[in-house]
Amino acid sequence: MSTYLFGNPERRRLHLVAALCVLGTGLGAVSYLAGRSQAPAGNPTPVDFADLPPGKLRTVDWMGRTVWVLRRSADEVAALADRESELIDPHSRQSLQPEGCHNRHRSLRPDIFVAIGQCTHQGCQPQLRAGLGVHGEFLCPCHTSKFDLAGRVFSKGPAPSNLVIPEYRLESDTRLVIGEV
Ligand code: FES
Repeated sequence: MSTYLFGNPERRRLHLVAALCVLGTGLGAVSYLAGRSQAPAGNPTPVDFADLPPGKLRTVDWMGRTVWVLRRSADEVAALADRESELIDPHSRQSLQPEGCHNRHRSLRPDIFVAIGQCTHQGCQPQLRAGLGVHGEFLCPCHTSKFDLAGRVFSKGPAPSNLVIPEYRLESDTRLVIGEV
């Protein structure tokens, strides 16, 4: 072994390259998995929602992605419990959200919902559907996946997981900062 490996400089160089490739692939996989297990963060972006009435959605550009800020009424928040049997992941076990949003309403504050407005199927932008009473939803126009007002995906559609919620923090009663814990 030692003669095979250490006696030949060219062979030694090839072994070193192969080892670095394996290491690089391993580190890449680890960082990919780490990235997949945490809500996205960075580029702190303040959003004022003082003038946002219930039922209205504000869109914000954050790192080239559309982020929604939706104000939900108390009745809409209560109605999130009604259709959980139709959801793929009602407890958000397989989805990305900040730790403080691991609840039924998937938000730091029940009335304010923040999410990346990008379908988890192929990335189209779902639309807020009005006129559905307290059971409002987001409909993706591309292949008709639907999400409830907490961004939880309904099982009748191709999208596999709930909408992603970025890290954010509440700075005051009327202002939040997207991208910062
Ligand atoms: Fe939304 Fe296909 S991209 S359902």
